[in-house]
Amino acid sequence: MSILLLTCSVSVLVLIATVFYWVTAKPKPIKVTCDLSKQSVQTKNNEGARRCALLKDDNVISYFYDDAKTLYEAFQRGLHVSDDGPCLGYRKPNQPYQWLSYKQVSDRAEYLGSGLLYRGCNPSPDQYIGVFAQNRPEWIISELACYTYSMAVVPLYDTLGPEAIVYIINKAEISTVICDKPNKVHTLLENYEKNLTPILKTIILMDPFDDALKERGTKCGIEVLSLKEVEVRWQDRIIAYSTYYSSLDSKANFIIIEALKTKPKDLGRANSKKPIPPEPEDMCIVCFTSGTTGNPKGAMLTHGNVVANSAAFFKIIESTFIPRTDDISISYLPLAHMFERVVQTALYCSGARVGFFQGNIQLLADDMKMLQPTVFPVVPRLLNRIYDKVQSGAQTPFKRWLLNLAVRSKEAEISKGIIRNDSFWDKLVFNKVQATMGGRVRVMVTGAAPISPSVLTFLRAALGCQIFEAYGQTECTAGCTISMVGDSTAGHVGAPIPCNIVKLVDVEDMNYFAANGEGEVCVKGSNVFKGYLKDSERTAEAKDSDGWLHTGDIGKWLPNGTLKIIDRKKNIFKLAQGEYIAPERIENIYIRSAPVAQVFVHGDSLKSHLVAIVVPDPEVLPEFATSKGIKGSYQQLCKNSEVKKVILEDMVKLGKEAGLKSFEQVKDLYLHTEMFTIENGLLTPTLKAKRSELAKYFISEIDQLYKNT
Ligand SMILES: *[C@@H]1O[C@H](CO)[C@@H](O)[C@H](O)[C@H]1NC(C)=O
Ligand SMILES: *[C@@H]1O[C@H](CO)[C@@H](O)[C@H](O)[C@H]1NC(C)=O
Repeated sequence: MSILLLTCSVSVLVLIATVFYWVTAKPKPIKVTCDLSKQSVQTKNNEGARRCALLKDDNVISYFYDDAKTLYEAFQRGLHVSDDGPCLGYRKPNQPYQWLSYKQVSDRAEYLGSGLLYRGCNPSPDQYIGVFAQNRPEWIISELACYTYSMAVVPLYDTLGPEAIVYIINKAEISTVICDKPNKVHTLLENYEKNLTPILKTIILMDPFDDALKERGTKCGIEVLSLKEVEVRWQDRIIAYSTYYSSLDSKANFIIIEALKTKPKDLGRANSKKPIPPEPEDMCIVCFTSGTTGNPKGAMLTHGNVVANSAAFFKIIESTFIPRTDDISISYLPLAHMFERVVQTALYCSGARVGFFQGNIQLLADDMKMLQPTVFPVVPRLLNRIYDKVQSGAQTPFKRWLLNLAVRSKEAEISKGIIRNDSFWDKLVFNKVQATMGGRVRVMVTGAAPISPSVLTFLRAALGCQIFEAYGQTECTAGCTISMVGDSTAGHVGAPIPCNIVKLVDVEDMNYFAANGEGEVCVKGSNVFKGYLKDSERTAEAKDSDGWLHTGDIGKWLPNGTLKIIDRKKNIFKLAQGEYIAPERIENIYIRSAPVAQVFVHGDSLKSHLVAIVVPDPEVLPEFATSKGIKGSYQQLCKNSEVKKVILEDMVKLGKEAGLKSFEQVKDLYLHTEMFTIENGLLTPTLKAKRSELAKYFISEIDQLYKNT
């Protein structure tokens, strides 16, 4: 009897314990902030424009914190809320991270900024300072130096190409460039010696350098200074002066006035050491992007633009994640691009930390392990690499089966809003990949190029953290839409963010009509840029008189209020690595190849290279083939892989001569025997290629080409 009772009560206890455990340990779904079937709503006054469902009315936001409306204030806010906590991290090979505190960064920015003023820069938003460096703490110190005294930054970067750098220095009248390495200084001096950039006066260098470099500068009339020298010299001066001032009694004041007369430069500037903070509508950065044609365009962005963009992100994620002072991000995406700058703004105004990679992408994983970031901004190229790595890690059929099972189980959880990294499957299958990212990542944001839905869904399962997909362009600072908290679906770019509204505009010649929920994506809001620097023509093309930014992307509204990008207006598209491609320009070069009668260049924006469909010229091909030692009928030749190879070689050779970059060259092609015509629907009545039709028509050939390359 008593034994029975005991067994009974034990089982009851076990049952209670189990239920208790189950209830308490049961993972909770993430709190959604809006009805995911209605992520955006129609605005009242702007024909068909939609706004984020999180906004109460049609007024978009422009900041999140009252005390952070400029990038200068954002940083100062971080200084206060972190109570002068760690701010910028850097490391030497195989060493732990070292940190500069908020105050150290802020002080150094003041010294450097005062030094710039001392050298004749004006504390004004149309004073542009060039920054030509990889991501590192001095980058942030340099830009903050500018913001502290209301000056604007113009990032320069290698991939722009040497001509573009000359163009930008002249266009923005940059007299001072802050560089990271001596080789960049040599490049700048070479340009100057060739009289290409007469405006340049001063180069400030972050890394140590030898006297020869300084002499080379002196010889041609450029002063090459070290960053330390500019900072420290000025720091000493300020300390010297303030000691001097405080030691004076009022009677001695006239001495200063006398001194001002005799040494106006030195003493006059000494007073500038107090910050001259910018206003939200002041320019903070001119971000040059290389187009496919013509010179680079300098998008002028204000403090308000950048602050609004990061505020909108806060508004989206505030229910689940607001960076705290113990949050850490890793900085490796180029600071010259706005995506990384918006992420960093969000971190600084929260008093969080930013650790820099060592400058070598091969060592990123090692840096991640050491830094253990919680916020990880990414681009699709990197996500694709992580995806490939996990997939190729499952070598045996059993491992593949296990991986699939794990992914499916986690996907089922995620679709219920449960995002976690501590499930059975995480411990068994995914702990390795999570550990490669340091093991603490809570939030990832991907942007800059489209990501394949299957990769995104897979990684959401494998990484066990929130992954947001954002879409936008430099002209709206960085983002204009983002996926909503709790939306685990892929294949769209989310809803308009709370700092802008989005509408679609008819593109008649491509058959897209706003009435059908399709058209060119147009953006209006507090993140939309002022215009291109000294280029009213291209500004007018991008931004209309009502303030709408015309993105050139074709979008489609999905029933749940999210946006899907479906096409590109001007036949310009991006490859997976973020490079813009203008296929017609490339086709115009390839068409010069003798055996080529027609050519269609295609690029899948989820891939990083191009392929082509070529119709060989029946008149020329036999002779061309014979000259290469290959004989046969036109039909036979078109099936011959040797023929394909020699045509491809000829095209690539022409491309090289015409200056195509390697990512602009096709990697493989398919020989088609029938001309593209108006009749078969592949050409427009004006004999232009119907690109979307061609892509549809050749879908299996294109798939095959991508499989082969
Ligand atoms: C799981 O995520 C939490 C934060 O959400 C983090 O603190 C923890 O370190 C992560 N664990 C692993 C193994 O990634
Ligand atoms: C939104 O709609 C698209 C297309 O109908 C669908 O694929 C996606 O799953 C939906 N997302 C949500 C969260 O309902």
